[in-house]
Amino acid sequence: MEDTERRNKNAHLKCFQVDLSSFQSILKFKGSFQQWLMDSDLHSSVQLLINNAGILATTFRLTAEGYDQMMGTNYIGAFSLTKVLLPLLENSPVPARIVNVTSFTHRSVEDMEVSLLIHVAIPWDNEKVRGSGFKSME
Ligand SMILES: NC(=O)c1ccc[n+]([C@@H]2O[C@H](COP(=O)([O-])OP(=O)(O)OC[C@H]3O[C@@H](n4cnc5c(N)ncnc54)[C@H](OP(=O)(O)O)[C@@H]3O)[C@@H](O)[C@H]2O)c1
Repeated sequence: MEDTERRNKNAHLKCFQVDLSSFQSILKFKGSFQQWLMDSDLHSSVQLLINNAGILATTFRLTAEGYDQMMGTNYIGAFSLTKVLLPLLENSPVPARIVNVTSFTHRSVEDMEVSLLIHVAIPWDNEKVRGSGFKSME
């Protein structure tokens, strides 16, 4: 951020923390971000979203909402963040862009079995969303 500020004196920067493996954290981020845009008198929109965060899980864990940690972080988290930011992306005065970073490692997967381990119901914009655990079968 310091480097960007040095290069562009007009840059208006703010750093937010969000845990993509948590719906609560994503929703909290959306609220804080929108508030910041409003307080800063900035246009209520997003022009570019790069979903770059990702993990390579080496052990099986579940997120608070009951998803496999890696699926929850790398895919469901990125999807959920994109979903909550969609109105702001659509509000962009220029065509907005969403970039999803991924890995060519998926090409190495030849077979996979999915088992539904647990189901949890969580509130999501007044709707109910079903969370599913995900695990390769031993
Ligand atoms: N490195 C490779 O060889 C490689 C190859 C193919 C694809 N990729 C892809 O490139 C992207 C970045 O990889 P990288 O190599 O830069 O990985 P990295 O150095 O491990 O960085 C991953 C980033 O994701 C963030 N992150 C992890 N869990 C998160 C969560 N729950 N919520 C929010 N942020 C979270 C981390 O934040 P913290 O620092 O705060 O933990 C970190 O900044 C990933 O999508 C990855 O799949 C990487």
